[in-house]
Amino acid sequence: MNNAPIGVFDSGLGGLTVWRELYRKLPHESLIYYGDGKNCPYGDKNREEVTAYVDLAVRRLIDRGVKLIVVACNAATAMAIDHLRRNYALPLVGLEPAVKPAAMASRSGVIGILATAATLNGRLFRETSQRYADRVKILTQVGEGFVELVESNREQTPEALARVDKLLRPMLDAGADQIVLGCTHYPFLAAAMRRVIGERRVDLVNPAAAIERQAEALLRRFDLQAEPEHTPQYDFMTSADETYRQRLIAKSEQVRTMDID
Ligand code: SIN
Repeated sequence: MNNAPIGVFDSGLGGLTVWRELYRKLPHESLIYYGDGKNCPYGDKNREEVTAYVDLAVRRLIDRGVKLIVVACNAATAMAIDHLRRNYALPLVGLEPAVKPAAMASRSGVIGILATAATLNGRLFRETSQRYADRVKILTQVGEGFVELVESNREQTPEALARVDKLLRPMLDAGADQIVLGCTHYPFLAAAMRRVIGERRVDLVNPAAAIERQAEALLRRFDLQAEPEHTPQYDFMTSADETYRQRLIAKSEQVRTMDID
């Protein structure tokens, strides 16, 4: 048993979609969320830059005494998880696009992956998609502008709907019946996506629940679970300013009850 907090890391606000799952399913665990708002977005940055940002964030979380870190950011996982595993001993959970569950669930034999360029160009995605390439046709699309829309609180605007329509519709028209949300910011655009999907039988695949299950399994394996009587605390850290930290807090309140799946 261990009442130390779990660290949750993302380039910005998007990891709150994973934080929400941990908050709901692990009610005794304290959580410290770190949003790298100063350097967001990561998706168009190179590996060296992102690895340096992630390394700094992980050290700050370790300084706060976290017992496990969830890298709630696909781009950071794609570019920096190998570095983290080589350099830090604490348990780490990374985030990959959910190709496997989408491939298994597909009825049409076509799945669509929405992610940043960093994730789609990474080794993890390449290897996973090769594994399922004979089972399904995999369409990919960079969610250009999606992260920026979410970071600036514009996910419910006509502009967001138009952008989602532009990027999502071609995959739907090509027969995709599973759309993988390969960036933790994207579930915030789920309402706009559902409007574009309309009456089609298409599922949005959000990997947050699977990541929570991995974190829970690691806590159990290393006997790191909080005591049942532990009262959790929720803290928020950022590389940006206090205004951004307050936005993280406000968004975390909102996300607790939001319908983003
Ligand atoms: C980004 O910062 O560009 C997106 C992060 C992610 O891939 O989850």
